Amino acid sequence: MIAIGSDHGGFELKEHIKGYLDAQGLEYRDFGCHKNERCDYPEYGAAVAKAVTSGEYEKGILFCGTGAGISIAANKIKGARCVNCSDVYTAALSRQHNNANMLALGGRVVGPGLAELIVAAWLDTAFESGGRHETRVDMITAIEKNEG
Ligand code: RB5
Repeated sequence: MIAIGSDHGGFELKEHIKGYLDAQGLEYRDFGCHKNERCDYPEYGAAVAKAVTSGEYEKGILFCGTGAGISIAANKIKGARCVNCSDVYTAALSRQHNNANMLALGGRVVGPGLAELIVAAWLDTAFESGGRHETRVDMITAIEKNEG
């Protein structure tokens, strides 16, 4: 199950990606915003990050105007590894190398077609566990715990 959220800047792209997830038969919960009215991205970034890091949701996808603010907010929650992507390569590698558990997209940066490809690559790529990439992700976790 995927948790998703946006501010007004990402609202339209979020609505488009909801249609894409529906077409793929993928389940999600939309944590808001629920209408295209000015609101504050930290609220939605944190809510979705908490839903993911608690283990309640497997992955999270966030949207704001650039993907920047909402990913910064999400990454303040311990255990969140949110990567702001505007290309397919970064989306795939953020899973393969960084075990990203959250994806952010900029509704004013990427078009709906590219956003679908980014989401598909991100959802379809597995983490390369058991090697140097896992060691590095563990180092990030240690930094978060002030043990790094
Ligand atoms: C809202 O205007 C905009 O600042 C927000 O969507 C996002 O781009 C922030 O990083």
